[in-house]
Amino acid sequence: MNIGIIGAGAIGTAIARALARNGIKARIANSRGAAGLDVLAAELPGITPASVQDASRSDIVFIAVPWSKIPGAVKDLGPWDGRIVVDTNNPIEAPTFRPFDLGGRASSAVVADLVPGARVVKAFNHLRPSLLAGVPNAEGGRRVMFVSGVDAAANAEVAKLIDRLGFHALTLGGVEAGRLHQFPGGPLPTLNLVKFE
Ligand SMILES: NC(=O)c1ccc[n+]([C@@H]2O[C@H](COP(=O)([O-])OP(=O)(O)OC[C@H]3O[C@@H](n4cnc5c(N)ncnc54)[C@H](OP(=O)(O)O)[C@@H]3O)[C@@H](O)[C@H]2O)c1
Repeated sequence: MNIGIIGAGAIGTAIARALARNGIKARIANSRGAAGLDVLAAELPGITPASVQDASRSDIVFIAVPWSKIPGAVKDLGPWDGRIVVDTNNPIEAPTFRPFDLGGRASSAVVADLVPGARVVKAFNHLRPSLLAGVPNAEGGRRVMFVSGVDAAANAEVAKLIDRLGFHALTLGGVEAGRLHQFPGGPLPTLNLVKFE
């Protein structure tokens, strides 16, 4: 199971840190053909700069790009052939922080239309970067990360990865359940929950 990360900003690098800490390899890309990612790669064993194309040819592809940039980032990618796309994105961005109008659709449904044939799982979208990158053990428990998506097997793969990273994956259901951890609007993203065994 190989992993790609498209987007090397706050969230993309936080995911890379979490993977590297657990000895999991990944390719990471930005908009500039991986320029500037050498320092990150030198710091994080197993994290390799790549082109967006190469990162997208992974079994699990994280997309961690500002909402307005997602269509441009993925337009030349695919066919996706059932590969898993992890939608870490939220439909809001600087400088206005005005939510994008999605016509009432769940944000992952909008992302899924941009990556036809991929199995889209919404996850890694509701914790701030420092909590994603940091050690997920909190007060003796494991920090909770929400998962949702149409494809139960893909949800389970991503949940397994989340558990491997030391978080507690909590699968909420299908794409409509994603509204619960969508930001803004959902009731869950502002919470920092911990699961105690
Ligand atoms: N920051 C948070 O607190 C937070 C929390 C949860 C979820 N999110 C979500 O995570 C996503 C990423 O946010 P962020 O804060 O990580 O953004 P960010 O720090 O601004 O980083 C954005 C990254 O996307 C890359 N990018 C932009 N256009 C691209 C393209 N066409 N092709 C490939 N890469 C491209 C940029 O590459 P270049 O630098 O080369 O332009 C940069 O590496 C957003 O959807 C956001 O809503 C953010």
